[in-house]
Parts: sequence; C-alpha cells; structure tokens
Amino acid sequence: MTQKILVLPGDGIGPEITAQASRILAACQARGLDVEVEEGLVGGSAYDAHGDPLPAETLEKAKAARAILLGAVGGPKWDILEDLTKRPEKGLLGLRKNLGLFGNLRPAITYPQLADASSLKPELVAGLDIMIVRELTGGIYFGQPRGIEERNGERVGFNTYVYTESEIERIGRVAFEMAQKRGKKLCSVDKANVLEVTILWREVMERLAPEYPDVELSHMYVDNAAMQLVRAPKQFDVMVTGNMFGDILSDAAAMLTGSIGMLPSASLNESGQGMYEPCHGSAPDIAGQGIANPLATILSVAMMLRYSLDEPMLANRIEEAVGKVLDEGLRTADIASAGTRTVSTAAMGDAVLAAFEAL
Ligand code: IPM
Ligand code: MG
Repeated sequence: MTQKILVLPGDGIGPEITAQASRILAACQARGLDVEVEEGLVGGSAYDAHGDPLPAETLEKAKAARAILLGAVGGPKWDILEDLTKRPEKGLLGLRKNLGLFGNLRPAITYPQLADASSLKPELVAGLDIMIVRELTGGIYFGQPRGIEERNGERVGFNTYVYTESEIERIGRVAFEMAQKRGKKLCSVDKANVLEVTILWREVMERLAPEYPDVELSHMYVDNAAMQLVRAPKQFDVMVTGNMFGDILSDAAAMLTGSIGMLPSASLNESGQGMYEPCHGSAPDIAGQGIANPLATILSVAMMLRYSLDEPMLANRIEEAVGKVLDEGLRTADIASAGTRTVSTAAMGDAVLAAFEAL
C-alpha cells in the first residue's frame, strides 16, 4: 500500500535542507519505495500565510501521513509575538502533542571523520554512539496549570512538572527495548534528590527493570549527567529522560559529535507513525545563503525509513552514502577543518545522492 509522507520545510534554513533530503527520498522512490510525498506549511511561514503556526490543513495532512519530515521552525521575525500560541515553536509542539509522538530518539554519533570537529578532545569522542530517549509529549512542556498571572500585586510565572505512571512506563519501555538492541546499558536521568515527579520516574524505571534482565539499568541526577556527558561521554549507551532534561542534554550531546548539523531525530507514537527532523534549529543567521548542513535532515530520512517505513536496507544505504562523502573530505562550513573541502548545501546534497546511487 502506498504510504503518505508529509514534508514540512518550515522556516530559516528549513526549506534548503529539506530540499536536499527530498532528493534522497525521491532516489529511494526510484528504487521502489512506495510513498506519496506532499508538502505543507508549519511554524512562522504558516503563521505568515494563515495566522496560525499549525493550520488545520497541515494537522489533517500530518494525521494522514505515515511519516513527516520536518525542517526547522522559528526565527527572530516571530520572536516578538507575545502570544505563545502563535509562536512558530507551537507548530512543532502541537504536532508532537496531537499525533502523540511521545518517544523521541536522538542519536549522538561521532563519525570518525569528524572527531576533530568536536570541541572536545578527539580521544574523548571518537567512536561515540549514544542514544538519548526523550519523553516528548509530557512533563513541564505540557503540564497544567501554566501561565503568568497577577498575585498579591506582582506577576507570577508558573509551569507544572507532571508525569503519570503510564507516561513514564511507556517511554521506559521504548528505552529498555532500545538498550536491548544496542549495548544493553540504560541510564535513566532524573532529579530525584529534589523533585517528587522524578522520584516516581525512578521508581517506575526500577519496576520495569526485571522485565529486561539483559539490560543494566543505572540512574543519574541530571546535573551530574550534564557533567558526565562532557567529561567521559563514552560511558553512555542509551539514556532516558523527561521532556525538558532531554531537550537540554540532547543539545550538549549533539556538540560532542562535532556539529549539531549532523544529528537526526525520530519522534514516534504507539503505532509507529513518526516525525523526523534534524535536532538543530532554523539557523536564521545563515538562512538563504546555501551553506547550511543538510546531513542531519538527510540522516532523518534514514531514520524514517528504519522506524516508520520498515526499509532498513535503504536506511543503511543513506547512512553509508553520508559516511562515504565524509571520507571524501567534503564538508559544509559547520564541520570544516584543515584539509577538508568546504561545499554548499546543494553540493553536499549532490555528493550524497551520487554516493547513494554508486553504492
Ligand atoms: C527541540 C527544540 C524544541 C524543544 C523547541 C523548538 C520547541 O529545542 O526539538 O529540541 O524545546 O523541544
Ligand atoms: Mg532543543
């Protein structure tokens, strides 16, 4: 059956990078991948066109799609919008929430060719392969009550950090299963020395552990985890954590790999429907210049093939093509170093496509 893919380029560099990823997707179609690709608006560009960062039409298309490929949303142009419900980010959060995409997979892999591009010593990061499993539809991002209101003559801002046992359990299972398929080590990150919600988090992880006897479960406070990520990152295999801690730790982990421009992500719901996006933002400072790194988005297509479309061979082929291009010494500006050749977004897309076809 033909499956639907929705491409949402978004804002800033989003359109440039998704254009390259779409070419790879088309190459997969030429090799028999049975999908129908549509485009839609989200984020600031959707706000400009429809006054809404997540127009009903986009949400309908997203619900009907097996997988969504998203570029990036946001930019200074829309930062002045005081109504948070109109901010571009709301388009992204609305998609996550409405589609129930609770399981966010953020791999941090240091390609050997890029160990020098990391801000950490190459020996600390060479061969790094971490999978951060971030809960994506709960926690303080969505907890109620929230707001800013007047109390006793001054304004008070408040959010609610809340997780139900069932929410913790379902992300826990994703993480345990992921660990079973990888190095069999799972580190659950919390702040159980201060926050009740994460005391519950830790309890639920402990309760699940006996069902996965081959996985070694450990716990770490989030402040220590941040430190350990930059001290000795190779100690980690799979990490599981809540929405906000995962947001922060995944940015830190991204930099270990040399550039956040390299990191794809998958956000999955219970039926395997998924949204795939680079971990980086819309980079408004370089938008429109044709210099952005399209590799995170191209690698997001690989994750889509693996997790939503059950096409692991095509996924491997894309990942191998990216490795080959890096071997050849081609780099976009963000990952350039001595002895490499700096190329544009489109030239990087050309090179990956050529390597993909040649494999
Ligand atoms: C991310 C981003 C988003 C988040 C923003 C854009 C809302 O930082 O995907 O990590 O905080 O989840
Ligand atoms: Mg983030």
